[in-house]
Order: sequence, then structure tokens, then C-alpha cells
Amino acid sequence: QITPPKPLIVKDREDEVDDGKKKVTIFFGTQTGTAEGFAKALVEEAKARYDKATFKVVDLDDYAADDDEYEEKMKKESLAFFFLATYGDGEPTDNAARFYKWFTEGKERGEWLQNMKYGVFGLGNRQYEHFNKVAKVVDEILTEQGAKRLVPVGLGDDDQCIEDDFTAWRESVWPELDQLLRDDDDATTVSTPYTAAVLEYRVVFYDPANAPVKDKNWNNANGHTVYDAQHPCRSNVAVRKELHTPASDRSCTHLEFDIAGTRLSYETGDHVGVYCENLDEVVEEALRLLGLSPDTYFSVHTDKEDGTSLGGSSLPPPFPPCTLRTALARYADLLSSPKKSALLALAAHASDPTEADRLRHLASPAGKDEYAQWMGASQRSLLEVMAEFPSAKPPLGVFFAAIAPRLQPRYYSISSSPRMAPSRIHVTCALVYEKTPTGRIHKGVCSTWMKNSTPLDNSHDCSWAPIFVRQSNFKLPSNTKVPIIMIGPGTGLAPFRGFLQERLALKEAGADLGPSVLFFGCRNRKMDYIYEDELNNFVNSGALSELVVAFSREGPTKEYVQHKMMEKASDIWNMISEGGYLYVCGDAKGMAKDVHRTLLTILQEHGCLDSSKAESMLKNLHTTGRYLRDVW
Ligand code: 2AM
Repeated sequence: QITPPKPLIVKDREDEVDDGKKKVTIFFGTQTGTAEGFAKALVEEAKARYDKATFKVVDLDDYAADDDEYEEKMKKESLAFFFLATYGDGEPTDNAARFYKWFTEGKERGEWLQNMKYGVFGLGNRQYEHFNKVAKVVDEILTEQGAKRLVPVGLGDDDQCIEDDFTAWRESVWPELDQLLRDDDDATTVSTPYTAAVLEYRVVFYDPANAPVKDKNWNNANGHTVYDAQHPCRSNVAVRKELHTPASDRSCTHLEFDIAGTRLSYETGDHVGVYCENLDEVVEEALRLLGLSPDTYFSVHTDKEDGTSLGGSSLPPPFPPCTLRTALARYADLLSSPKKSALLALAAHASDPTEADRLRHLASPAGKDEYAQWMGASQRSLLEVMAEFPSAKPPLGVFFAAIAPRLQPRYYSISSSPRMAPSRIHVTCALVYEKTPTGRIHKGVCSTWMKNSTPLDNSHDCSWAPIFVRQSNFKLPSNTKVPIIMIGPGTGLAPFRGFLQERLALKEAGADLGPSVLFFGCRNRKMDYIYEDELNNFVNSGALSELVVAFSREGPTKEYVQHKMMEKASDIWNMISEGGYLYVCGDAKGMAKDVHRTLLTILQEHGCLDSSKAESMLKNLHTTGRYLRDVW
């Protein structure tokens, strides 16, 4: 037998302390914090299990300033985990976008990651076409480039119970880490049983008369040069209009945020992120269930006075000191279904043991099916759950840390062009208003807030919201003569209104415009044909060559945009042949899939291609940026 030579100990990471401990890096690509939460949960447990290792949780965006640094640092990683969420049309989260682009575009790097052992857990939703695409792609490339996969890629499915998927995947990780991180001399060590502690903020209460007045210094982005999700811009609602007619039983709001003098800017096709507030009735119900006064003035902190951690690193950054009413309105997601960890936190503060047992059961592996039915299928909200367990009265530090997730910003495709509306961001938002299986009326938080907002033209005391702009690649071709085909039923019309405003402004400035066609769809001309006059004006002014509308509930049979596309198939084929761009915006689960299939049929029939050639042609259009989708 040959004994392998002892490896030299190389100090290969800048932050490495020479303590002989094995370094593990846990990367996350997160949008709403779930991937980050899982990354931190893995680390919390791993720390309890392995004291011969150090763990570092890293935001993929903060990891490296540029591609070279990604490469330089990544090749030194010997043990890494990736938590990666997939969004919309198979896209990475904002904070993983730069990494993903660099990593997927550098396939010619060879087997440069041979030092690395890794695991990937993905967060996605099976209802979408590109289920967990980002995690799958990263997992595949890591292996291709020489890294050693420790466990199969975890495919978390938000349509079912993603927490269970994570738990199952995590269980598959321990035996592997036991091999790598347990002390050789201590081969008999068994796993330490681990129970996650309930997370908690430290809370400071104030006498309202002496409370710190810490309203944000809005609109200087807190010293940052750009506004983003962490540094939003306070923006007034300048205009609000209902777009449906009274004959419609649904509602769609046109809203204009005033960004004059804020230094917030946008481009046609970008998205706006909006932080809205819960309805008063929702806040009142939460106050009643918590049994606390709305005027309770408090602040939350992640560390104890003595500096010892309270699980602080796993918690979202604290919000500014405020009253409980404000905190519930602005920062608490009260209408989503609580996670299992939230049920455990409620159980820990339930005075009735029967309630505590039932909550623990629902969160346990034995209660999996019941949880899926009682929570998932019934869409019970956090408030409904709290109402059913009235003895659970969590303190504020626990409520905001472990029970009510932070209220997330909502994203909308901007429906204006800065060439037409430089000081306004227009949003086109359908109201979410539906009856859930328990009989609750679910009112979408942001769409309801927008519908109820008071615009500046009605009152000086108008509504406002913190907003920020997220760039997108949903852009018009730089050459105005290139043909464009736009497909956007319902509020999928939003970015195309921006495109058409842009084209109109370009035309007025003397630009030569290529042909364009818009396929729009709605139920009934008399109810939900939004922006009808504007669309006709775009045609009359020559910004739009052809407007094709499918009305789904006028005749005896449903007519959808894809049916109209088939009628215009040869025009579509000709425009694509001439180098045209295809744009699809709207519902990902139904419409965008059906439109994709229709495009394949058109390519097959008019390009005389077999199905695999048609698919590769569409794929090619996608990769070359000529088939763009903004879907949700
Ligand atoms: P429906 O509500 O009558 O089914 C905007 O929402 C329009 O898109 C409506 O006319 C809606 O029709 C239609 N729509 C619903 N599902 C669709 C699908 N899979 N493909 C295309 N359009 C669809």
C-alpha cells in the first residue's frame, strides 16, 4: 500500500485564520429571503454538529466585485453549498444575476474547479416551465468544470412544501459532511441531535413621548448613489385611475408614481419594486390577535446588550423604531401561509398545551399531509392560523423574527416610457381579490393598496410608497427599423404601452420605424379593454403598424392571442425572417406556454421545419436576445 504524501497546508483564502479548521462557504441567490434563510439554517445546524469547521454565508453579489474576482476566489473554495432561487422565465435572482451570467458564459474554462466539493439546493415552483432552472444549470456546470457533487441537486418546490424539500435535502447532506468534517481521531462521534432555537429579536420599548423620531431621510438613498430594494425612494402617487368599465366585475388600476426631483430614473421595459402597506382592517385584526396596543413604540435589535448573539445573523435587518401599528402595516407579511418554523414559534408561546401540541404536530414530519391540506391547499393566512390558536401570544421580538415574514416589495412591469413620462413611473395592476377555500376573501396586498390609494390630484395628503427600479433585459431593439412582434394579453400589455410610447416619441423625433404588431387579449370590449383609445392612437400615429385583439368572452368560443397569431402566421414568419424580435409578457403558467407552442407551430409550418429544428430555431432566437419574455 502506498501512503499518499501529506498535503502541504496552504493558506488559500484571505480570510483564513490559521486555526486548522476546514472552511465551508454557503452561497445564496435570494429574492424574498427564503434561500438566504435556508442557507443560514444549514449553517446554524452545521455549526452545532461540526466544531472542526468554520462556515461563512455569502451573498453571491457581495462575494466578488467582477468576473476575475469570482474566478480567483471560486477556485480556492474547497467545500461550498449554493442556495439558488429561480424566477419567472427561468431567471436567477437579482443578487445572483452577475454570478450566473459569468458562470454560465464561461463554459470553456475546463476542469478548473477540481478542488471543490459542493451541494446545490434550488428554490422554484413546479407550475413554471423552467422549474429550478438556475439550480440545475449551476449544478451541471459545477460538475462539468471538475467540482465533485456531494449530493444530488435539491429541487425545492414552492407549489408544495419547500420547507420539507429543504429538510429532506439537508438530511442527505449530513452523512457527506460527517465524512469530510468529523475529526479522524474521533470516528465514533455520532450526530448531535439538533433542534433549531426559535429566533428572536431583542426588543426595546419606548415611552411614546420620548420615542426616537427616526423617520427615514428619504430620497437621498441613505447616502447611496442608486436606489435599490434596501434603499428605496419615497414617491407620491400622482394619478390613479380605474381601467375597467363599471360593467366589469374585476378591477385594474393605472397608477403614476411621481419621481420628479428624486434622481430615480428608469428605462422602458424596466420593473418597479413597490413597498406597500397592509390594509387597516388587516392591521386591526393582527393587533387584536396579538393583544397589544397599537401605540406600543418599540425597536428591534439582533444582539443582546452583552453582545452575545440571539441568532442575529439569521434575522433580516431590523426596521426603524416605530409604533406597533406602523410595524404591522409596513413590515409584516400577515396574509401568507405561515411556515412550519412559524408554527413552532407559535407553539412555544401557546399557553394552552392542546394548542401547542396541535401546532407542533402540524410542523412535524408526521403532520406533513395534514399541513399540506390544512395550510397549503386551504391557503390559510397567518392571521387565520393565529385566530384558530388564540392562546398563542408571541412577544414582539419573536413575532417579527420567527412568525411574520418581512413584507416583500411587489414588482411590476413599468407601463410608461421615460421619453414620454420622464418624471413618472406608470404601473398597470390587476386587483387580486379571490375567495379562498376557507371562505376568506383574499385581497392582494399591493393591488388593494394601489386601488385604494389617494392620488395627488385628489388631495395634497396623497398616498406614497417607497419604490425602486429593477433593470430588465426586456428592451426594444436598438435599431428602430427592426420588426417587432408583441404579445401581451391582460396586464401583459404593460411594457408594450411603454414600448409604444417610446416608438411614438422616436417617430416624432424623426426616426424611421420598422413594422410592429401587437397581440392583445381581454375578456370583453365593453369591460376590460384597457387603454383602448391609446392603442388606437398608436395605430393612427404610426407608432404601431397593426393591433390585433382577441376577445375571450364575447363569442360562443374562447378566442385567445395565440388563435389570432395563427391567423397571422405568415406575417409573423415574415417578420421573424427579416430579423424581427418577439416579445411575450404576462402569465407564465398558461398563456406564455401556449404562445410558445403556437410559435413552434408557426415556425414548423411556415419555415418547413421539423419539430426539433423549430425548437432549436426558437431557442436560438432566445439566446440571441430576439425572443424575450417578461412573465410571472
Ligand atoms: P379568459 O379569462 O376568458 O380565460 C387576459 O387575462 C386575457 O387572457 C383574458 O381574455 C383571458 O381569457 C386570456 N387567457 C386566459 N388564459 C389564457 C391562455 N392560456 N392563453 C392566452 N390567453 C389566455
